[in-house]
Amino acid sequence: MRRFVLMCATFVLGASAWAQNAPPNDAASVKSANIFQIAPDADSDPKYKAQTNAERGKVQPGNNAPMWTQVGQGVTGYTSLPKSQAPEAGNLIQPFVQYPGSRLTNAGEAWRQVRNNWLIPYGGSLLLIALGALALFYWRKGTIELHGAETGRKIERFTPFERSAHWANAIAFTALAVSGIVMAFGKFFIQPVIGNALFGWLTYALKNIHNFAGPLFAVSLVIVIVTFVRDNLPRAEDITWLLKGGGLLSGTEVPSHRFNAGEKVLFWIGVFALGLIVVASGLVLDKLIPGLVYERSTMQISHMVHAAATCLMMAMFMGHIYMGTIGMRGAYSAMRDGYVDETWAKEHHELWYQDIQAGKISAQRTPAAAPAAKTATTA
Ligand code: HEM
Repeated sequence: MRRFVLMCATFVLGASAWAQNAPPNDAASVKSANIFQIAPDADSDPKYKAQTNAERGKVQPGNNAPMWTQVGQGVTGYTSLPKSQAPEAGNLIQPFVQYPGSRLTNAGEAWRQVRNNWLIPYGGSLLLIALGALALFYWRKGTIELHGAETGRKIERFTPFERSAHWANAIAFTALAVSGIVMAFGKFFIQPVIGNALFGWLTYALKNIHNFAGPLFAVSLVIVIVTFVRDNLPRAEDITWLLKGGGLLSGTEVPSHRFNAGEKVLFWIGVFALGLIVVASGLVLDKLIPGLVYERSTMQISHMVHAAATCLMMAMFMGHIYMGTIGMRGAYSAMRDGYVDETWAKEHHELWYQDIQAGKISAQRTPAAAPAAKTATTA
């Protein structure tokens, strides 16, 4: 007990000595505000809404509403960080903007509205409609078969280089399409089945696959464009082909050169235009374009462009993949082995076949030996 009293006495003496050494309580020094000093009638002032944060603090200490209103309106504050390193350090909430299809609101919310109200429902519907249309076409028409008998004489349709470029591009495209579809639409048809945890891991893995397949797609796309551009240049005969829909419905194919007008439309719109838009916006999203300032708005705009262009591209390529597999007999093996039968060439690309017969185009373009069967020119 004596010891406790001694300790208390020492503490009191020590505290009073500290109080004597403390600086004088100067009236001009900073005073802290009492945030419990609530003034209920402060908002009856007609200028209440227009008060700055400092003015508001005087009548309602601790009320920072004017500052947060400004933050919510996208006002950028001061930051000492260089813009090149931290382009948006002074801005918590982006300013108001109206993206196509959104209300006039903060950019983050505007982007969310475009994504959730337009890109996801309409992009998803487009893909389902394209799939349904192809299923319907296959159900009514089936595989387009050869009418005549095969001759056994082969024409080299695609060189090994053309096939390698095509398949590198097609494999990257498939990886991108599958991962992109799961990331965008998976929560509607996969998440309810496999649950949140597995879906989280799946999308995490697919996101990484998507980011790595993107640059491979970009490089192989450029090679595909350069490789196939010459035979996709428009020609007069393409107009007839388009006017008659290629004869797909009538069953009498309209003569075409190496690629018909349908393939050319796919090339210029699907491969060239949409492909380059998808690649450019994807490289921005991957932050791979040097010198570009990556702000939130940069990412929002490139995401919207990327998602819209990829949905259109995927819908077009569904048609291409259909025709290149179950839609037409002999098309897939042409891209797999490089060769088509003379009858195939005559029935599907008659003008190209005539040029080969006339010796204007070589039936064997690669110097290496053709497969077992004889080629058309050597027949
Ligand atoms: C993923 C599955 C794919 C399959 C099964 C497929 C199949 C085929 C087939 C069989 C051909 C030969 C058609 C003919 O002989 O006229 C072909 C041609 C072609 N493919 Fe693909 N393809 C696929 C993806 C792609 C992709 C992703 C691209 C480019 C983005 C592409 C671009 C081309 C081009 C440029 C041609 C030459 C004909 C033309 O210019 O339209 N393909 N494809």
